[in-house]
Amino acid sequence: MSLPPILISPSVLDSDLSRLSEEVGRIESADLVHLDVMDNHFVPNLTFGLPVVQRLLEHTSMRADVHLMIENPDTWATAYAEAGAASVTFHAEASRAPVKLARELRERGARAAVALRPATPVEPYLDLLPELDMILVMTVEPGFGGQSFIDGVLPKIARTRAAIDALGADIWIQVDGGVSRQTIGRAADAGANVFVAGSAVYRADDPAAEIATLRELATASWTR
Ligand code: DX5
Ligand code: ZN
Repeated sequence: MSLPPILISPSVLDSDLSRLSEEVGRIESADLVHLDVMDNHFVPNLTFGLPVVQRLLEHTSMRADVHLMIENPDTWATAYAEAGAASVTFHAEASRAPVKLARELRERGARAAVALRPATPVEPYLDLLPELDMILVMTVEPGFGGQSFIDGVLPKIARTRAAIDALGADIWIQVDGGVSRQTIGRAADAGANVFVAGSAVYRADDPAAEIATLRELATASWTR
C-alpha cells in the first residue's frame, strides 16, 4: 500500500485577516491553505464565510482546505465545494446526514472530510470511512488559535489509522490545533499525515522556513 502524502496546511486564522490575500501569498510553499469558517454558534468565535472564501479563491492558485465550524453544514457546505475548495471538512457533531453530505461534496469535485472534536469518538464513523477522503481529528477544542495540543487524542489518531490501513484505503488523517515543532512528530507517529498549523507558521519570522521544518519533522516521524 502506498504511503499517504505528508501535507502542511497553514491556517490563516492567526494572520492579518485584513490583508488575507497577501497573507496567503506568504505560505505558498505549503501544500494547502486552511480556511477556518466559524459562525459564533457551533464555536464561540466568528471569522469569515462564503463570500470571503469565494473572493480569495479568485486570487490564489493554492488549494483550499476549508474547515467549517458551523451549525447546519448540511445546508451550507456544498457551496464551498462549488466555490472551488479542494477539500471541505464539516463537523460530525453538527451534521445530521454526514453520508449524504459527503456524497454531495464529492459530486461537486471536493474531497469530503469529517471533523471530530476531542471528545467525539471515531468508532461510529469507521464503517463510513469509504464515503470519506479525510478525517480531521481535532487536537484542541475548536474555536481559537494558539491553544495547547491535547495529547489525549493520540490514541484516537492511531485507531483511525489502523482502521484505514485495514481497509487498504487512501484516506488522509488531519490534525488541527497546537501543531508545532514540539508536537508534530507525535501526531505523525500516531498516523496523521495532514498537519494544520496556524500560530506556528504565522508567528514565525520566516513562514516558508517553518513550513519546511514542520514537513521535515513530520516526514522523519512517519515510521510505519
Ligand atoms: C481552531 C482552528 C485551527 C487553528 C489552529 O479551532 O480550527 O485551524 O487556526 O491554530 P493553532 O495552530 O495556533 O493551534
Ligand atoms: Zn481549523
